[in-house]
Amino acid sequence: MDAVTQFKQALGNYPTGVTVVTAQDADGNPIGMTVNSFASVSIDPLLILWSIDKNAFYYDAFTNATTFNVNILAADQGDLCMLFASRVDDRFGKCEWHPGQNGVAVLKDTASQLECTVYNTVDAGDHMILIGEVTSIHNEDKEPLLYHKRLFGKIPDAFYQQS
Ligand SMILES: Cc1cc2nc3c(=O)[nH]c(=O)nc-3n(C[C@H](O)[C@H](O)[C@H](O)COP(=O)(O)O)c2cc1C
Repeated sequence: MDAVTQFKQALGNYPTGVTVVTAQDADGNPIGMTVNSFASVSIDPLLILWSIDKNAFYYDAFTNATTFNVNILAADQGDLCMLFASRVDDRFGKCEWHPGQNGVAVLKDTASQLECTVYNTVDAGDHMILIGEVTSIHNEDKEPLLYHKRLFGKIPDAFYQQS
């Protein structure tokens, strides 16, 4: 088996949540894409990261933006995940959202929303890592959407505590 296949299999053994990262393009229009590379980085200051494919349609717009929002999807928002992983026209006309404190779109009924300013970017192979400093946080009491081996789900009842 080649290294890329092994790499994909290994990463498939690491389930994630799902986010939609939003920003504004140079004309002030809302942009967004489905992202599961989101991760926590630092508590002091509050930093998170995500990475964007250099071939992504919105690559230039996201890497030129100075602010972005991370919308952590709730378990019943698989439709939003697919909407923002597609090239459907007028995606923000097909979902409910409002501008956050920073003016960037916040998607309605998501489990958590993190408003960020760009803290740093790191060139990393065929992706660019965007590190964001969190400027505003909003949490809802909702189960998250999970992603594992190209399948979506929610936290199973059998989730257990390690003793
Ligand atoms: C569950 C899931 C997670 C994704 N995570 C990322 C990601 O972390 N970074 C990224 O650049 N693209 C990611 N994508 C792909 C983008 O959402 C997708 O490429 C983009 O929205 C539309 O494709 P386009 O840029 O080729 O038009 C993910 C897609 C899905 C379905």
